[in-house]
Amino acid sequence: MDWQALEAQYYHPAFRRFPVTLVRGEGARVWDDQGRSYLDFTAGIAVTALGHADPELADAVAAQVRAIAHISNLFYTTPQLEVAQRLVDNSALDRVFFVNSGAEASETCIKIARKWGQQQRDGAYEIITADHGFHGRTLATTAATGTAAYQAPFAPMPAGFTHVPYNDLDAVDDSISPQTVGVMVETFQGEGGMRPADPAYIRGLRRICDDQGVLLILDEVQTGVGRTGRLWGYEHFGVTPDIMGLAKGLGGGLPIGAVLSTEAASVLVPGEHGSTFGGNPVACAAARVVLDRVTAPDFLAEVQAKGAHVMQRLRAQAEAGMRITDVRGLGLMIGFDLETPDETTRLVAQARERGVLLITAGPVTLRIVPPLTIGMAELDEGLDAIAEARRA
Ligand SMILES: Cc1ncc(COP(=O)(O)O)c(C=O)c1O
Repeated sequence: MDWQALEAQYYHPAFRRFPVTLVRGEGARVWDDQGRSYLDFTAGIAVTALGHADPELADAVAAQVRAIAHISNLFYTTPQLEVAQRLVDNSALDRVFFVNSGAEASETCIKIARKWGQQQRDGAYEIITADHGFHGRTLATTAATGTAAYQAPFAPMPAGFTHVPYNDLDAVDDSISPQTVGVMVETFQGEGGMRPADPAYIRGLRRICDDQGVLLILDEVQTGVGRTGRLWGYEHFGVTPDIMGLAKGLGGGLPIGAVLSTEAASVLVPGEHGSTFGGNPVACAAARVVLDRVTAPDFLAEVQAKGAHVMQRLRAQAEAGMRITDVRGLGLMIGFDLETPDETTRLVAQARERGVLLITAGPVTLRIVPPLTIGMAELDEGLDAIAEARRA
């Protein structure tokens, strides 16, 4: 079957895909329809935390589909409440609202903040976000994201978002007005170029939000659920948010997102917000397995050790003259820069030819976000292939 021709004929032409049709996976490896295997350094864009086809996750999902796949939020369902309990017990936040994706999580963060602003801050509704941030592709989250190219085709954008440089506390301080209801940032910027936050920045944001009486909203859609070597990105900074958005790794490959909030910020009442599929029993059955594994003893220490190993090897490659200009990372959320966009695109293709899936995050940044369960030997195998590609 010519799947690429089928896509060209039937699919909305909205994606530029790599010329590979993936049909199966196991752990950190995937196979294409020709039987060729690849080491997966992408995890479906920082999603499949436990790797592909994890037997425990697959069994939990299959059992849930057999028991009850969907019944809506009009009823109590058990996997949803078990996951809500795990999220609250393992975080600094008090309540959970489930959705289906990162964009829907960000959108829900925005709606909660606006409702809170109506109640607590005279109708304030503006949210300060950061340049190079990414919060999703719905209309409001596209406005929050602020990248001109994402916004232009869909103008006019919803009002209520102010963008300031990341890691610049003065810019946030200067932008807060009586209309401001909160500040929304990532604890490590992903899509916008794998940029770490200065510890003083996240701590300073907490202080500014407290001083000014506005909400600190952390978009942990990509950083959450162990990706950075801590369960939540905010744990690296010794502060806690008022509202936090999650998705990606939470379902281990099943679509689920969540918004966690403090008691004071849990302001939604019946009828104001909803989601037919949000917290669906099947997605929650998967999330339950993911959370139990990621919070098990040693799991996150291993993520930290693996991340440190990758960064140390990339830095060694940089020093060995492989024209790597910068390496940045936290846990298994790692970016490295090459000199030009051309070289970056070429390395993605060269790595793939050598059996390693890599993706970019911005024009000159490559991203390594493998399954959290990947082995050291697999990491070395992938890094060797990347080094070979750089030498070729
Ligand atoms: C920080 C962050 N927020 C939101 C999103 C949007 O998530 P989704 O693609 O699931 O809508 C992403 C996706 O990359 C993200 O990295």
